Amino acid sequence: MSRLYNDFQPSHYELQLTLDPDGMSFRGSVTVNGRKAGKPSKRIVLHSKDLKITNVSAIRHDKKGDNPVLFDRVNTLKSRDELRLHSSTMLYPGNYTLTITFEGMITDPMNGLYPCTFIHHGKTKKLLATQFESHHAREVFPCIDEPEAKATFSLALTFPKTFGVGLSNTPVISSETKHGQQLVIFETTPIMSTYLLAFVVGEMGFKESKTKRGTVVRAYATPDNVAHLDFAVETATRCLEYYEAYFGIPYPLPKADMVALPDFASGAMENWGLITYREQALLYDKRNTSLSTKQHIAMVIAHELAHMWFGNLVTMRWWTDLWLNEGFASWIEYLAVDKLFPDWGMWTQFITDEQAYGLKLDALEHTHPVEVPIHHPDEIRTIFDAISYQKGSSVIHMLHTYLGATVFRDGLRHYLKKYAYGNTDTIDLWEALEATSGKPVRSFMHAWTSQPGYPIVQVTTKKSALLLHQERFLLNKPKRASLLKWPIPLLGSDLSNSEQIEEVDTELPSNPSALPLINRGHQGFYRTTYDDAATTRLLPKIPGLSPEDRLGLLADSFEAAKAGYCSASDSLKLLSAYTEEAHSSVWDIIAVNIAELRRVMDDDTVRDQLKPYLQRLIAQQYKRLGWTEQKNETYFDKLLRPTILGLGASADHPDILQQAVKYFEEASTSEDLHPDLRSVVYTTIARRGSAPEFKRLLKLYDATQSAEERVTLAAALTNFTGETQILQALGFIKSDRVRLQDISYWLAYSFLNRHAKGLTWKWLKENWHWLEKNLGNDLSFYRTPVYAARSFSDSGYLKEFIEFFDQKRSPALERSINQGIEMLEWQTKWKKRDLTAVKDFLSKTS
Ligand code: BES
Ligand code: ZN
Repeated sequence: MSRLYNDFQPSHYELQLTLDPDGMSFRGSVTVNGRKAGKPSKRIVLHSKDLKITNVSAIRHDKKGDNPVLFDRVNTLKSRDELRLHSSTMLYPGNYTLTITFEGMITDPMNGLYPCTFIHHGKTKKLLATQFESHHAREVFPCIDEPEAKATFSLALTFPKTFGVGLSNTPVISSETKHGQQLVIFETTPIMSTYLLAFVVGEMGFKESKTKRGTVVRAYATPDNVAHLDFAVETATRCLEYYEAYFGIPYPLPKADMVALPDFASGAMENWGLITYREQALLYDKRNTSLSTKQHIAMVIAHELAHMWFGNLVTMRWWTDLWLNEGFASWIEYLAVDKLFPDWGMWTQFITDEQAYGLKLDALEHTHPVEVPIHHPDEIRTIFDAISYQKGSSVIHMLHTYLGATVFRDGLRHYLKKYAYGNTDTIDLWEALEATSGKPVRSFMHAWTSQPGYPIVQVTTKKSALLLHQERFLLNKPKRASLLKWPIPLLGSDLSNSEQIEEVDTELPSNPSALPLINRGHQGFYRTTYDDAATTRLLPKIPGLSPEDRLGLLADSFEAAKAGYCSASDSLKLLSAYTEEAHSSVWDIIAVNIAELRRVMDDDTVRDQLKPYLQRLIAQQYKRLGWTEQKNETYFDKLLRPTILGLGASADHPDILQQAVKYFEEASTSEDLHPDLRSVVYTTIARRGSAPEFKRLLKLYDATQSAEERVTLAAALTNFTGETQILQALGFIKSDRVRLQDISYWLAYSFLNRHAKGLTWKWLKENWHWLEKNLGNDLSFYRTPVYAARSFSDSGYLKEFIEFFDQKRSPALERSINQGIEMLEWQTKWKKRDLTAVKDFLSKTS
């Protein structure tokens, strides 16, 4: 894609904006100092989208002084969001100052400048907020809207005095009121990319703390939510101190604000000094927040704060290397939270919450390499996916193991110092780590970030050797294996840590009495299968392995079955070795795979057979954990309880069903229910309920102000089996009951409900245009084809899916549509291949 930065390089923006919240519009002026580069030409081009340009002037600065430049034509190239200023005379390279005045609209899609709504004292109120990543600054002012075009920004905001407070990246220099209007001027920002600029205006309160070095840390929210900000402030303060020590570079701004916004497209956004969040990613309310959400809050804070260095101080040159930002932040959030909350066992959760999702998406032919070419601006949004985030963090994890913690940290310090306030490509990070470590980082990492996919290693045991074969792992196993190979860190039980295989086939001496286990800790980004002899040796040892190894063996086996390397009945056989299992992360893998097996096999006999099987599988843990917190229970026990109850409820466990009803009947408001139990209680009541239960759940939904509770209830309201309730729930999507930011939950949940999936598909086809119009800019919109593919495994649906989505192909949807088709293909194949074996296995065990 061509880049405007090559021709014009801004150094400073003076930006003035006047906001009219009632009229949902704004006007402004921007003065840009910059250097024209490249060949002399007759034009200067900036980004601008949906702005009305009202005036343009320019001055050229050269040795002889300042000269006005006359533009005789100003036009916009809509397809490329370009504002083209044409002069009748030649414009030579050199320094220019451009001044542009403009007007724009404040619109609902949560990008650029948009409104949020909330209720206070019974009245509906508004906040105004910005979201500029990835390329939406151009919707608010003309600029060179590319990450490499770093500059400083001075912002002055004018808005009605009664509207509230104004926040931006930097502290306020001055604030004055005139004629009912407030003019707030902010300090100049550090040199940074346009996507990091932000402001929020409206009625908000805050909680505050200070780091040891004196940085003021504040968390803001709408008035009724200010009481729920303490956990965020405390976590952020400690986390900021941790990063300063780890990176060896002080946080450069005097303040770090965080704001919980009632309407927000993603989870959170790392605007420098003004991090914005979806409410459920920041607000912690002891009586209403579940433990997993509390943990999520800490993780999101740690993620965004990491960007203050990795992303904001040093930034990818282009979106191709987005993973440098997101993969890295998604890795180090675990390092930080593990330090702040050591008993949360974050690194075990890394394998189930990050790596597993990376491995899953990357097992499709229509994945993409971590370093991904971008051909069209609409593609940028689609790469904020499990490859940039989860595969990215997983390959960093592997590298961290390979280099060791200290060398890795020192290499990062070197990298951040060297490129501070600048931009990098992936190779710059490898070179810095290579310089510090003396190890061949580039050649080790290149295969993992430049090639799509990853390998499966097949282990065959010989008397005193292991035979290892690697090939690309694909869920749709191709007839002819792909030729790609990877340098694979083996991490074997009796092998040295640095042992690697590079070739397709390798034979390594191995002590016959040692466990034939590789990829210990499941730290490597690959799958493994073992031959029967190895499996026989491993089975009795499973209870003594680490949780990562226990869950790794199970996950690898189920995934191998999906691709046809073994049968699902082999994986179920392996699962029988886990009746004593007590770790929540291992149970997460069990729960996910059982749900997927049930969904893809989509067969009444299997569903019925699974019930007694699951009831037996969870028996020990249910007895141990029950419904209420026990004295001395561990953090993992608390996380495990809802998983066990959920599995039990799905298997119609009589006592669990009965208790769920009892809890629901006895609770007059949701606050009477422990936050960790709400999800299983609500969804169970819904699955077995009809009109009266729908009415009661809806009442809870309408009454709550909690964003988390709304999503929990959305999962329940979409979990009914009766057509009336299913249609009612689908009907809400276009109503005021569901915020734009939450639509994807309603859709995804409805597709996961087997009674609702057909009606949801019909709804989707009928309402595609509405979604496109209202969600077009939203990340979740691009994932819709994948949601629509997940629950089906028949070729009839595949045909319908292709018929419908073939008409919808566009740069934004192309990859997701192809991924959906591919998922439907492997799911259909898996069902055909393994249904009988699964039935046989389950009938023998019942
Ligand atoms: N930079 C992203 C936010 C973002 C995502 C902006 C997509 C534009 C498009 C932010 O740092 C982020 O990664 N947020 C995550 C949460 C995080 C904890 C993984 C998100 O929004 O899901
Ligand atoms: Zn991020």
